[in-house]
Amino acid sequence: MTTDVGPVESFPDGQVSIITLGRIEVGIIRWSGKVYAVSGICTHQGGPLCRGVLSGRLAGTAPGDMTLEDAAPVIACPWHGWEFDVCTGEAIWDPAVRVRTFPVKIVADRVLVEIGAGSRRWLASPRADET
Ligand code: FES
Repeated sequence: MTTDVGPVESFPDGQVSIITLGRIEVGIIRWSGKVYAVSGICTHQGGPLCRGVLSGRLAGTAPGDMTLEDAAPVIACPWHGWEFDVCTGEAIWDPAVRVRTFPVKIVADRVLVEIGAGSRRWLASPRADET
């Protein structure tokens, strides 16, 4: 299901905007002209991932060498600090650990987010009538 979540300009660059799609909390992140959508629920223990800190990614090739890669935004969960690549959903410390991301399209300056059929099961506890 594709959902129009609003005009691009309603999502400030460099910030996380938290929206709710049905019962799913999603962080819409605009970063350097691109827009991403990430689950608001942390993979670790269900913390409020999108209320964490958004930044570029620190990288280095040797001790003492550190650069900030602005092309690769990272979000850090406020509960225990797990960091995830916003583009891929992969945890910085282990790409096998992931948070859910959703495809985003920009059409006529509107942000369209694709929430797949399996997303409800993956992100939310089932209601009594769904079990
Ligand atoms: S719940 Fe997010 S890092 Fe622990």
